[in-house]
Amino acid sequence: MEEAQSAAEVYVERTLALIKPDAIDNANEIEEIIFRSGFTIVQKRKVYLSPELCSDIYAAHYGTMFFPSLTAFMSSGPTIAMVIARHQAVEYWRELIGPANSVKAKETHPGSLRSLYGTDALRNAVHGSETSSAAEREIQFIFPDATVYPIPTGQDAITYLSKFVNPTLLRGLTKLCKQKPTDPIIWLADWLIANNPNKPNIHEGLLEEP
Ligand code: TYD
Ligand code: MG
Repeated sequence: MEEAQSAAEVYVERTLALIKPDAIDNANEIEEIIFRSGFTIVQKRKVYLSPELCSDIYAAHYGTMFFPSLTAFMSSGPTIAMVIARHQAVEYWRELIGPANSVKAKETHPGSLRSLYGTDALRNAVHGSETSSAAEREIQFIFPDATVYPIPTGQDAITYLSKFVNPTLLRGLTKLCKQKPTDPIIWLADWLIANNPNKPNIHEGLLEEP
């Protein structure tokens, strides 16, 4: 029980932070605050979000009065997108950015990022995912090459490996044992490159003359 508790305490969560087009000039200051608040910036990218991508990210608000102005604003200039991580990242980052409406944030949460750098209900300087699953979904939109969490463990890991890795590895290892090369690791690495089932297998002899 004690062990489970301490594991939960050190669990590092990640979330998506966006510095929106209206706050791009304050990006360095905001990043400094992110660091000082105990976050690690795992990935960072300057992006120009298309109206289509903004519609996907804010799909939950489709049909609202503010949806057209929201997608127009979000695609009006560059955005700094960051995957940031720490213990309870989602909750802590939401707390740090403050309420959605910057006018209200200035009254009720004067130290928050939206109070400091935002202007009104639309131009509110920063974004933070609302839940951990929303964070994973939003991270995939902007960093499609990011690792998909949670990393499988237990039965999920066994199923994944037996489906995608073990069949190929078993063939390679069997061949390796038959051949007994002097440097088995290098031999296996070369064999895996040559026998990767996810890569088109082009045999030199089949290549057409240019
Ligand atoms: P919302 O999900 O309510 O806020 P948050 O960004 O804190 O998750 O709304 C998404 C964005 O939509 C918000 O950051 C700014 C914009 N918005 C408006 O322009 N007008 C509004 O009245 C609301 C509620 C949101
Ligand atoms: Mg929201």
